[in-house]
Amino acid sequence: MRLDKLLAEAGFGTRSRVKRLIRKGHVQVNGEVVKDPAYQVEPERDEVLVDGEPVFYEKEYYLILNKPAGYVTSTKDRELTVMELVSDVPRFEKLFPVGRLDKDAEGLLLMTTDGALAHRLTHPKWKVPKTYEVVVEGKLTEEAVEPLRKGIELKDFKAQPAEVEILDSGEEESKARITIKEGKYHQVKRMFASIGHPVKSLKRVKFGSLELGGLPTGEYRHLTDEEVERLREEVKLSPKRS
Ligand code: URA
Repeated sequence: MRLDKLLAEAGFGTRSRVKRLIRKGHVQVNGEVVKDPAYQVEPERDEVLVDGEPVFYEKEYYLILNKPAGYVTSTKDRELTVMELVSDVPRFEKLFPVGRLDKDAEGLLLMTTDGALAHRLTHPKWKVPKTYEVVVEGKLTEEAVEPLRKGIELKDFKAQPAEVEILDSGEEESKARITIKEGKYHQVKRMFASIGHPVKSLKRVKFGSLELGGLPTGEYRHLTDEEVERLREEVKLSPKRS
């Protein structure tokens, strides 16, 4: 690809800005200063430096964010969005969140530029499992959650059988882990509300093979190549990288 295109896509500014950078001699390819913006480079093979700093180029970006409550899962909104939390990533405007987490929900949010992957991960056909930890009102019992395990009729659809594990059961509130393979609006909240235990807080801890782990709230990290490949495999997409 052209050197100016690579630098623009890697977040060094507009095409005209990067052309100026190149013409002024700020850019080296494999140890040589290159002043031609049309110079052809192979991003995977060639070493490109801007003012001596290596250029980190990836066609697609994959981030996992531990979303705090209070942020809207959207690229644009009148309210604070999750984009604020990734705004130091080069080309962050090209990222979009995969699936939705309610404004008051927390936890694992995948953000990527990879449209094919995002589409499949959220398409019902692929039945990607999502695991949530919830705190609900009242004392949860095995009997109470049974309808969720069997599949429960909600107002407009029937939720498929979910895996539910009660983690803690108190008089005032209880904690449970639930895995569903769908992603309807407010689904988990509606499922627990329908058995008489409204959700007080909700956190996604797993999305397909991806796990939130110890990522602090409000922070993100880039996925490893292995994590990307595993996710793509799960929805039968061919490997991205060699
Ligand atoms: N279910 C919900 O009710 N809310 C979410 O944000 C995700 C799943």
